[in-house]
Amino acid sequence: MEEVKKSFIEQFGAQGSLTSYFAPARVNLIGEHTDYNGGHVFPCALTLGTYAVARKREDRTIRFYSMNFEHSCIVEAQIDDLRFEEQHDWANYPKGMAAIFQQAGYEMTSGFDVAFYGNIPNGAGLSSSASIEMVTAAMLKDLFHLQIDQIEMVKLAQKAENEFIGVNCGIMDQFAIGMGKKNHAILLNCDSLAYQYTPINLKKEKLILANTNKRRGLANSKYNERRQQCEAALHSLQEQLDIKSLGDLNKEGFNAHKHLIPDKIVRKRAKHAVYENNRTIEAVKKLNAGDIRGFGKLMNESHISLRDDYEVTGKELDVLVEAAWNEGAIGSRMTGAGFGGCTISIVPDDRVDSFIEAVGETYNAETGLEAEFYVVDIGGQAKKL
Ligand code: GLA
Repeated sequence: MEEVKKSFIEQFGAQGSLTSYFAPARVNLIGEHTDYNGGHVFPCALTLGTYAVARKREDRTIRFYSMNFEHSCIVEAQIDDLRFEEQHDWANYPKGMAAIFQQAGYEMTSGFDVAFYGNIPNGAGLSSSASIEMVTAAMLKDLFHLQIDQIEMVKLAQKAENEFIGVNCGIMDQFAIGMGKKNHAILLNCDSLAYQYTPINLKKEKLILANTNKRRGLANSKYNERRQQCEAALHSLQEQLDIKSLGDLNKEGFNAHKHLIPDKIVRKRAKHAVYENNRTIEAVKKLNAGDIRGFGKLMNESHISLRDDYEVTGKELDVLVEAAWNEGAIGSRMTGAGFGGCTISIVPDDRVDSFIEAVGETYNAETGLEAEFYVVDIGGQAKKL
C-alpha cells in the first residue's frame, strides 16, 4: 500500500488527502460455465488482488495510472466524455465503471486521480479485470458518498464488462469479488442471486493454484461460442419444456429430453451445463458434511466434463490436472473460463512441496512451459481500506 501511495504522489503530486481501496482476485472451486446458464457457482475471493489510491480533483478530468504497466503513462479522460478507446488499454476497465455508474444515475460531482497496483498474475484467469472493476466501484462509492449497496455494484461491474468492454461474461467473477468473505466460499444461484456462505475449513490441506502460463488466444470468441451453443440447446428444449435456463433442469429431466437437441456437439455442451450445476450443489453438500474427499472427487469429475463435453481445457490444463491427480491431490480441476489460465487443487499439507516439484517437472517435460504455483488464502470483499 505504501508503494502505491508513493507512486501516486510521484505521478500526481502530494497535495490533499488520499484514500485507498482493495478488491480481491477470485478462484472458482466448482461450477464452471454455469453462471450464464442460470446455474450455481462456488467461488471464493483470494487475498491477492488490486489496490487503488485516489484523490478528488476540482475539475471534470479523470486520470488513471497503473504501476503494472509503467511504460503506459497516465491515461486521461473527461467525466462528460467517457468512451471505450482502444489505445487506453487497461484503463478502459475503470473508465467503463465510471461510465456505467454515471449511466445508472450515480453522479460523480468532480474528476479524480487514481493509481492502481495489482499482484494478480496477468492473464491467469483469476479475474484481474473484475478486480479492477470492483476496486473502482468501491472507490466511486466512497469518493462521491453514493448510496449503493455491494450487490448493485456487482451488477454494474458485470454491465461495464458486457457493454463497455464487450465481453459477454456471466455474474460469477464480479459477485465473488464484491461479496467474498474470509475463509468462506459462496454458493451462488446465478438465476435468483440467492447466495449462501460456506466455511472452507481446511485443517490438513492447502489450496494450490497452478498457472499454465499459456497465452489464452481467441478465448473470448470461444467463450461466446459456448454461450451461443447453450442458448441454442435451451431453445430446442423449450419446444417441449417450460424452462427459463439450463439451470432449471436436473440430470433426469435432461436425459429424458436431450433428443430434442439435434446437434451432437450442442447436446454435449448442454449436458455439461446441467450436470455441472447438479455437481456443484452436491459438492457443497459434501463439504458441509465434512467430506473433503467427496468434494475433491466432484472437482475431478468437473474437469473431465469440461475436457470432454464442454471442450474448454486444452493440453496444458489437462497435463497439469492429470499430474496433480497422480501426485496426491484430493481434487484438481481447471478454474475460470479455460483455454489456458489456472488449475485449482486441494493438496494434503504434508505433500505440498513434493506436489509442486513433481507437477512442475511433469508439466515442463510435456509442454515445454514453466508452471507457477501459489498456495492461496481465501480473503474478503472489495472495500475501502
Ligand atoms: C469467466 C466468466 C465467468 C464464468 C467463467 C466460467 O470467468 O467471466 O462469468 O462464465 O468464465 O465459469
